[in-house]
Amino acid sequence: MSISETRPDRANVADRSSGRFTRALNALRDLGPGGVVALLRKHGLSGAWDFLRRNVRHLVADRLARRWDARFNVDTAGSIQLDALDVIGPNASKGNECVCTSPKSMDFILDQVGRDLSRHTFIDIGCGKGRTLLLASRFPFTRVIGVEFARELCAIARRNVADFIDPAQKCRAIDVIEADATTYEFPGGPLFVYFYNPFSKDLFQVVIANLEASLRANPRDCILVYGSSSHNAIGWARPAILKSGLFSETPSQPMPGFLDAVRIIDYAMFANR
Ligand SMILES: C[S@@+](CC[C@H](N)C(=O)[O-])C[C@H]1O[C@@H](n2cnc3c(N)ncnc32)[C@H](O)[C@@H]1O
Repeated sequence: MSISETRPDRANVADRSSGRFTRALNALRDLGPGGVVALLRKHGLSGAWDFLRRNVRHLVADRLARRWDARFNVDTAGSIQLDALDVIGPNASKGNECVCTSPKSMDFILDQVGRDLSRHTFIDIGCGKGRTLLLASRFPFTRVIGVEFARELCAIARRNVADFIDPAQKCRAIDVIEADATTYEFPGGPLFVYFYNPFSKDLFQVVIANLEASLRANPRDCILVYGSSSHNAIGWARPAILKSGLFSETPSQPMPGFLDAVRIIDYAMFANR
């Protein structure tokens, strides 16, 4: 029986992680010894080492992610390209592929907050398969919300929320909202808003403007975390967040190189009070 028959929510969801290492080995085999030498000449030994290190890191992280999934009865591993998915709204081309924040990275971020979160709502903007929602639900948030614009990923995230088995879970009020983040209206009450490099700078500016308007209309506590593993996104996200003067940056520890992370998450934390 195929995976899409056992998990109809996974039909059309092609995972680019599985077989990545085999694809790399096949590519080397296809190149042959002459091609490999030519590649080494072009990129040098350090380039070859980088290539190998990236692929081994990916392989290890992917194995650990699948082991975590099996342990908690969910499906959150993989790298899902958005091209084949059914996306709400006009911003599909500005979104980044779905790769979930690693469990150790999320725990590391949340452990650093050092504040009572029992009145806060955790919101992941672009929640993908919803792994962060499961991880955040182990903390005493009042509510946990994921916003995601790809219908298939919403379906997987909802199923994960229903299937998650963890005695450490503290918050069971978890919702997955199918929407383009630029149209999302933030709820009342204190907020913890998480972004893991979900989309382009122009969309981020719209979402930040919406969040700031909501905080101005209804002043309340807000912690914001922006994480990224590519494109120097913190470089443009930080000034966009600080621009209005509403937020200031909270000192945070650098992210360790956790083995369960496909890429190390460079992140910054902000608070409005
Ligand atoms: C890098 S993944 C992060 C997944 C999740 N936040 C995590 O950390 O585990 C980015 C996610 O943002 C979603 N996304 C991109 N653009 C979006 C938009 N305009 N509205 C809602 N979700 C979006 C993508 O579909 C993808 O699932």
